[in-house]
Amino acid sequence: MTIHKPVLLHETIEILSPQSGEFFIDGTLGGGGHANAILDRIGKSGTLLGIDWDADAISRFEKTNEGRAKIFVRNSNYNSIPKILTDEKMPKADGLLLDLGFSSFQIEDASRGFSFQSDGPLDMRYSREGLTAAEVVNGFREEELADIFWKFGDESFSRQIAKKIVEERRKERILTTGRLRDVVVEAFPVRFRNGRVSPATKVFQALRIYVNKEFENIESILGNLSECVKSGGRVAVITFHSSEDGIVKKAFQGLVKSGIAELINKKPIAPTREEVLENPRSRSAKLRAIKLK
Ligand SMILES: C[S@@+](CC[C@H](N)C(=O)[O-])C[C@H]1O[C@@H](n2cnc3c(N)ncnc32)[C@H](O)[C@@H]1O
Repeated sequence: MTIHKPVLLHETIEILSPQSGEFFIDGTLGGGGHANAILDRIGKSGTLLGIDWDADAISRFEKTNEGRAKIFVRNSNYNSIPKILTDEKMPKADGLLLDLGFSSFQIEDASRGFSFQSDGPLDMRYSREGLTAAEVVNGFREEELADIFWKFGDESFSRQIAKKIVEERRKERILTTGRLRDVVVEAFPVRFRNGRVSPATKVFQALRIYVNKEFENIESILGNLSECVKSGGRVAVITFHSSEDGIVKKAFQGLVKSGIAELINKKPIAPTREEVLENPRSRSAKLRAIKLK
């Protein structure tokens, strides 16, 4: 059975410091690990708005929390939080959490097409909207693909990989994660093919970020924080790679400079060695947090 272990759980809750009766938003509900810890702290008099772009995450959370009072869930992009609050006549929150990227449920379900370790349709969308990864891989020009692999995956072999994809898709469209992985691996010089980390890792990351417009979504919500969180409210963001962390760092610095917020932790918080041993997915995690003035 799939379990999603919440990353930096203790540190996130310490920093967000949810108090009895407060209103919290979890913009990336996933398996609900962080949300449940927040619910324990805000108690029966508190309110939680839980959001996820993936309808499966929403129905899983609804099932396990049936009957619990004051939980509102929405299947939506977190960048719609300002609109959801207005439409639902909800106040600004005391706290907001964004735990970015994918959950174990998504990566372990081959049919979602996120993983190169199992074979499935090349999809990679959190929601069912927009282009699939297969449409990008088979429809975009060689230079466009190389740019995606470079910009969102820091892939130094981006051009060679894009060229190989275009050659291979002429023979037969690339429709599965397994075929894409094999094509990408073959684009690398032989000495790079058998490392500890699969050579396909960065291409898969880049496609996922592109298909889901991940960087645009983060920039959008961090640019609208004062519409979602009240004065004195806390915002915590957990990222999983350096470009994502760079976006959060820059946005937070901007808010501090313009006097809208103050940093709660000066340096990003990383998981302990014990957490990384217990949950290898946490190894690249970084937690940054601010408090609105
Ligand atoms: C790392 S998981 C969250 C795990 C969660 N904190 C827990 O403890 O189980 C990230 C979740 O964010 C969701 N997600 C990614 N981008 C999103 C977006 N733009 N809007 C809403 N949800 C998003 C994914 O579908 C996934 O379920």
